This record gives sequence, C-alpha cells and structure tokens, in this order.
Amino acid sequence: MANLNYVVCSVMITTLAFSLFITCDANNNKDDNPKLHIVYMGSLPETINSYSPTSHHLNLLQQVLDGSSNPANSLVRSYKRSFNGFAAMLTNEQAAKLAEMEDVVSVFPSMTFQTQTTRSWDFLGFPKAVKRQPRSIESNLVVGVIDTGIWPESESFNDKGFTGPAPKKWKGTCAGGKNFTCNKKLIGARFYVDDSARDGIGHGSHTASTAAGNYVDDVGFYGIAQGTARGAVPSARIAVYKICNDSGCPSAGILAAYDDAIADGVDIISISVGGSFALTLEVDPIAIGAFHAMAKGVLVSQSAGNSGPILSSVASIAPWLISVAANTIDRRIVDKVLLGNGKVLTGNTVNSFESNGRQVPIALSNGNSSLCPKESADLCQCLDPKLVNGKIVLCEQYNDAVPKDSGAAGAVVNADTGNVGYVQLLPFAALLLQDFELIKSYRNSTKEPRAEIRKSESARDPNAPKVATFSGRGPNPVIPEILKPDVSAPGVDILAAFSPIATPTEDLEDKRSVNYSILSGTSMSCPHVSGIATYVKSFHPDWSPAAIKSAILTSATPMVRSSVHDVGEYAYGSGQANPLKALNPGLVYDINKGDYVQMLCNLGYHNATVKLISGEVNPCKGAANRSLVRSLNYPTFAAQIKPNVPFNLSFGRTVTNVGLANSSYKGTITAIPELKITVTPTVLSFKALNEKKSFVLNVSGKVTRKTVAISSIVWSDGTHNVRSPIVIDVSSGDQDEP
Ligand SMILES: *[C@@H]1O[C@H](CO)[C@@H](O)[C@H](O)[C@H]1NC(C)=O
Ligand SMILES: *[C@@H]1O[C@H](CO)[C@@H](O)[C@H](O)[C@H]1NC(C)=O
Ligand SMILES: *[C@@H]1O[C@H](CO)[C@@H](O)[C@H](O)[C@H]1NC(C)=O
Ligand SMILES: *[C@@H]1O[C@H](CO)[C@@H](O)[C@H](O)[C@H]1NC(C)=O
Ligand SMILES: *[C@@H]1O[C@H](CO)[C@@H](O)[C@H](O)[C@H]1NC(C)=O
Ligand SMILES: *[C@@H]1O[C@H](CO)[C@@H](O)[C@H](O)[C@H]1NC(C)=O
Ligand SMILES: *[C@@H]1O[C@H](CO)[C@@H](O)[C@H](O)[C@H]1NC(C)=O
Ligand SMILES: *[C@@H]1O[C@H](CO)[C@@H](O)[C@H](O)[C@H]1NC(C)=O
Ligand SMILES: *[C@@H]1O[C@H](CO)[C@@H](O)[C@H](O)[C@H]1NC(C)=O
Ligand SMILES: *[C@@H]1O[C@H](CO)[C@@H](O)[C@H](O)[C@H]1NC(C)=O
Repeated sequence: MANLNYVVCSVMITTLAFSLFITCDANNNKDDNPKLHIVYMGSLPETINSYSPTSHHLNLLQQVLDGSSNPANSLVRSYKRSFNGFAAMLTNEQAAKLAEMEDVVSVFPSMTFQTQTTRSWDFLGFPKAVKRQPRSIESNLVVGVIDTGIWPESESFNDKGFTGPAPKKWKGTCAGGKNFTCNKKLIGARFYVDDSARDGIGHGSHTASTAAGNYVDDVGFYGIAQGTARGAVPSARIAVYKICNDSGCPSAGILAAYDDAIADGVDIISISVGGSFALTLEVDPIAIGAFHAMAKGVLVSQSAGNSGPILSSVASIAPWLISVAANTIDRRIVDKVLLGNGKVLTGNTVNSFESNGRQVPIALSNGNSSLCPKESADLCQCLDPKLVNGKIVLCEQYNDAVPKDSGAAGAVVNADTGNVGYVQLLPFAALLLQDFELIKSYRNSTKEPRAEIRKSESARDPNAPKVATFSGRGPNPVIPEILKPDVSAPGVDILAAFSPIATPTEDLEDKRSVNYSILSGTSMSCPHVSGIATYVKSFHPDWSPAAIKSAILTSATPMVRSSVHDVGEYAYGSGQANPLKALNPGLVYDINKGDYVQMLCNLGYHNATVKLISGEVNPCKGAANRSLVRSLNYPTFAAQIKPNVPFNLSFGRTVTNVGLANSSYKGTITAIPELKITVTPTVLSFKALNEKKSFVLNVSGKVTRKTVAISSIVWSDGTHNVRSPIVIDVSSGDQDEP
C-alpha cells in the first residue's frame, strides 16, 4: 500500500550531552539479509473476540516466507493491545511483499532513535505553593514516561505521603525486572531493552522527575543550581517504559511501549525521544503510537528535536501530539576564567571542579610534530602531553575528552553555541568567540600566561527566555500547513533526578556518582509540557488531548522575534508554555479523531490505508483536497505561498467555550502591512459552557520579498486572551493553490 521508506537512520534521546552520531544508510537492495522491520496495520478490530492478532501476524508472515521457514522464528513482537502490527526479521523483498498486502498500512525498517530543576518552574510563574487539586485527585493521574528507565530508589520517586492504591482504571503492572521494586508513586514499569527497567543513563530519571517528581529540597550538582527539585504534579503517579539504552531506542520497542502504556491506562505520555529529522507519518513510530494514544484520550508530548537552528530541522511533526522546543531560563550556569592579567572571562559550562584560587600555566602550544600537527593540536583533536600536561589548553573546538586524556589541568574552548551548558570531565570553560580571541591574545602577550578556571555558579540571565540554538526549527517539513514546534519550555541547564550508576558526562572514565544532574536538550523541555498537561488534566479530566494542547498553546507567553529569534514562531511556536494560564484558557480549539482522520484523507492517504489506521469503514468524505488540510481545527495558522503572487487563503475554525457561560469574545488581528487578514464574524457570543462558534480567517495579499510573515489573532473577553500566531511562509514558494 504505502511506499516503502527505506531510509534507515538512527534515532536518539534528545539530550545534547547524550546525542549520538546519526547514521543514515541508504537502502541497499542487494543486501538481502533479514533485518528487523515494523509491519504497521493500523487499529485493532472493534470486536476482537474472534480475532487473534498474533495468528493474523503469523499468517501474513507465512505468506511471504519460503515454505520451509517457521514464521514464529521471524516474528519478534506483536502489537495487539492498543493497535495492530508486528516486528519481524524480513528481507527487503519480503518487506516489499508485505507492504503490498491489503491489511498492511506500512512496512519500514526498525530504526534506532535517540533520547534527545528546580528553578525552571518558578521561571514559568509556577511557584511551589500553586493552586492544586487535592492529592486524591492528582494521584488519580498517571504519567507514562517512555525513556531510558528510572532509578526507582531516587528521592524524587519515593512514595512518602502516598496513601491510596493505584487508580482504579490502572491496568498496568510492575514488571521492571530483577531487583526493581515499584511503590505507590512509581506504579508501573516495563522494559523493551536490557534486562530491567533500571536507568543506567540518567536521562529517564531526569525527564520523569521533571514531569511528575516529588518535591526534594536542597539538591544540586556539586552544589551548583542548589534548590528544590520538583515536577509539575508531585502527587501524580509515574509509569515507566524503558525503550533506550546506550545503543539507542529501536522503533520496535517504541511501538511496544505505546501498545502497553495506552492499554495500561496512562493519562499523559512523555517521550523525549526522536530522530534527527522528521519522518512521514506512516513510518514514524512515535507519530503512529501517538495517534492511537490520542484515539484513547491520551495526549503525547514529544521533544521537538536537537538538530537546530537550521530551518525545517524540527523532527516532531504529527498534529495529534505536542512538539516542544527548548528555551533558556533566567538562571544560567556559568564559570569564570580569571587571567593572570586580572581580566575575567565568563563561560557557559557546568564545571564542578574547585580551583581553590590557584592559577595554572596556559600551554603555549598544543602540539607540533608529525604525530600531532599544529592544525589538529589547535583543534584539540590531538595534544602533545609533554606540552600540555598540568597546563590549561586552549582549544579552537569543543572537546573535553582529549584534554583530559592528555593530562591537561583544564581546557578553555571556543564554543559558538553560547547558550548551552554541559557537564564536563575536567576544569573547563566554553567561551564565545570574542572572549576566546581575548584569551589567545593574552597567551601571546606574556611569557608565562596563567589562568584560573573557577567552579560554576548561578548567574541571572536577563535575556531569557531565548530558544536554544540546538532546538529544532520549523517550518514543518512534512505537513507545512501545521505549525511546528507547537510551544517552548525550559530545556537549558535543567537540574533533575539522575541515576547514580550513570556517568554525568558521556565518558565512561567519569566515575562521579550523582543523584541529581544538569542536562540540556529538548528532552528536558518536553517533560515540562507533559507536566503542564497533567496539571491541566487534573482540573479538566474530561478534556480531549486536543483541548489540553489548545489550552497550552493559546495561553502561552508570546516570545519576541529578534536577531536571536530570526525565524520567530519557527523557533518557539506559540511561545513559552504558561501552566497557570493553561488551566483557564477561555476558549479551546478542539479536534476529534474523525477530524485527524479526514486530514489524513486530505493529505492524500488512500481510503483503504486510512480505513486501517482509523478503524472506520468509510473514513474519507470526498476526494482528497490538500487545501482542506489547513482547515484542521488547529490552534495556530500556517501556510506557504510564493513571493510576488497574489493569494487568497481561507481558514475555518471552531472554538468551544470553556470559560464563562455568558461571554463575548472580540477578535483582534495584528498583521504586517502587506497582508490583509480578516475574521468573520469579529465577535463570538456564547450563552453556555461547551457551546461552539465558528469563524473564518481570510488572509490575502501579495508579498514581494522572501520572508516569514508573522501575524496573530487574539480572541478576548477582557479576561481571557486566546492567542494564535498566523505564520505565512513566503520563502520556499510551495503554493498549494492558485
Ligand atoms: C538492587 O539495586 C540496588 C541499587 O542499585 C543495589 O544497591 C542493591 O544492592 C541491589 N540488590 C541486589 C540484591 O542486587
Ligand atoms: C541495548 O539493548 C539491546 C536489547 O536488549 C541489547 O542487544 C544491546 O546490547 C544493549 N546495548 C547496550 C550498550 O547495552
Ligand atoms: C614546529 O616545529 C618545527 C620543527 O621543529 C619548528 O621549526 C617550528 O617553529 C615549530 N612551530 C611552532 C609553532 O612551534
Ligand atoms: C599569537 O601569535 C601568533 C604567532 O606569533 C599569531 O599568528 C597569532 O595571530 C597571535 N594570536 C593572537 C590572538 O594574537
Ligand atoms: C544519593 O542517594 C543515596 C540514597 O538514595 C545516598 O546514600 C547517597 O549519599 C546520595 N549521593 C549523593 C552524592 O548525595
Ligand atoms: C473514499 O471513498 C469515498 C466514499 O466511497 C469517496 O467519496 C472518496 O472519493 C474516496 N476518497 C479517496 C481519496 O479515494
Ligand atoms: C478544495 O477545497 C477548496 C476549499 O474549500 C475549494 O475551493 C476547492 O474547490 C476544492 N478543490 C477540489 C478539487 O475539490
Ligand atoms: C482574492 O479574492 C478577492 C475577493 O474575493 C478577488 O477579488 C481576488 O481576485 C482574489 N485573488 C486571487 C489571487 O484569487
Ligand atoms: C450576559 O451578559 C450580558 C453582557 O455582559 C448581560 O447584558 C446579560 O444580562 C447577561 N445574561 C445573563 C443571562 O447573565
Ligand atoms: C473568505 O474567503 C472565502 C474563500 O475564498 C470567501 O468565500 C469568503 O467570502 C471570504 N470572506 C471574507 C469576509 O472575505
């Protein structure tokens, strides 16, 4: 049915410190060794009494394997609790045959994906003493964390104060493996890699504690960023699904984790995992799982990806999940370099090493021999230990392992990514280019240059929030009509729970053991939004995933386009998520499963494919019409048009009143002069809660330059301001309508 997508790319956890190299193997049809493939078959039949998914899977396999093979030997996993499909060892030829079968939506090689505080919640205007539902209500919610597992003994996950049993609806289990005990806080655990759900990397403990960890006072990383670690909803329960280890996060396990989490009864899914670029919907396991989660009322929050800042680098694009960009907070972690001449330079690094006021010599040269030529030495790709031992080295490129291995006493590096702090292996400072030039000219200016690299400290950053350089940017490369990322949240220098057996850096030589650590990445911003979604759900248990998402988007604090945010909404979506405002958005743009299904039809997926995905008999109303994709009731507006060509675009939307029964909202548009934007009607009057009103937003004009034109519409009743950005991309020229 669907075309086979044979691009194989590894996929990672989206923390920067842990980002692995991306390996993309183009399809090699000559290679006929069986490889792990996913065979995605859409929804399970409604009535499954007489239906056995596993026998169906074996039967399909039987049809493509040669007669002598036992299909049970090829079948690796069956997905049968929340959706239909399986993972199996298949040759390319067998995969292609299966893809042609009428019960199959798509067949794709299992890829390896990657994993991609304290202070951050205060920065979001969400203090400790916030308005909360009683514990009995909060603890009825279960946050499913699909990640590297968890450290169950962490203070962040102990069950002090949890009295009741797991919520009644909970159908999960504690199957964390040997020596893994759940409790009343951590109520579920399963694993799909390794032999236990225990976190050996630290990433999963970090994300779980940011979303829903306990309040834990007085923690920090060697005293850095000391404070209270907490999640958004400390009384919510946590269920972990371990899909990643040091080898990455395979698709087959991602789908198995969703299959279980949805059936177990989680309320929100947090998945800080993704690829380095966007995949089309039918071959993206994170999008596929999130579709079936949405169909069961579960919102999925995913990291936007760490491939920024280039355009179209956002890797999370499905409309039914929320894609989260990462921004700085007002507390930055810096370290100072004190030069022998008294000058002080400031680096962005998480440096736990005390200098005790001691200045050490700066190496005059890093190397100059056939083994280590000067060019490589200046980049610190190699260093001559004789020249650098016991000294501080200056590196033209970011590197901590080589200086450490060469016996350097410290390293000062040139870092263009000035807004990211990483934990380092040795005394270390990452300087912006101009400061790096300063220390180099100081080295030249004196016979015995010296410096002291001080331990990191917290500093106020008046420029926050600023989207991190690494955060994946729009436009949405797969569905340009849907603005991505959706929203931004803190993801730089975030302190949260860690695994004491994990290395705080990537380096296995690093023997430091910590219970809390500082990480940066969209992996860290994602669980902030998962937590906010859980908080909203604790007040509005009946809201759909789309309503919760709309509440978070339309109430987000707008961010300002500037030289550091030159692509505006493509960096931060609707702005920085605001938990308190999201509780009471006034209006929501709701979307049901049928609307998403119709969108798939309009995207051009065939009736038969959409029927399998949705489980509906006649899913597509009318022929595919691409220009109707933008009529999905999305809480933001986006389109791509050509420069110099007059255009008329029309967006239909329907809002649901969730504010005051008797209320009247006036629409206000802010547009750039080249665009004419109208809304009809301009006033929406409601008499009842949950009443719906529709409007049409028309955008017309002619833009002569290549630009991304950003406008907005705000519906206001004087109390609630329901804001949506309108992003007209006049840069790529893919106009879908005359
Ligand atoms: C179980 O795991 C904990 C944490 O790593 C460890 O301290 C303990 O010794 C382990 N117990 C057994 C029986 O392996
Ligand atoms: C990760 O898990 C897989 C599956 O259990 C295993 O084959 C692989 O060796 C593990 N990788 C590491 C680095 O432990
Ligand atoms: C590198 O070594 C060569 C040969 O020993 C010497 O001529 C040259 O001056 C050295 N360059 C630097 C930058 O030390
Ligand atoms: C330092 O001195 C070297 C050699 O004398 C020169 O090439 C370089 O430009 C100087 N660097 C700075 C930053 O002054
Ligand atoms: C980490 O927590 C354990 C208890 O779970 C404690 O024994 C240990 O001292 C802590 N480590 C640090 C570095 O604080
Ligand atoms: C899907 O089927 C419906 C009803 O049979 C038909 O109206 C529609 O044109 C079909 N859509 C596509 C994309 O084939
Ligand atoms: C697609 O929908 C647009 C907007 O409603 C409409 O103007 C256009 O005629 C439709 N195109 C087709 C081929 O039906
Ligand atoms: C846009 O709509 C206006 C008003 O209906 C019409 O006059 C104009 O010709 C349309 N422009 C294009 C490019 O379709
Ligand atoms: C609704 O609000 C309008 C304007 O604020 C007011 O005139 C009217 O009396 C209100 N109606 C009800 C039933 O409260
Ligand atoms: C908005 O655009 C649609 C489709 O082009 C058109 O039918 C409608 O009259 C326009 N509304 C306004 C107020 O211009």
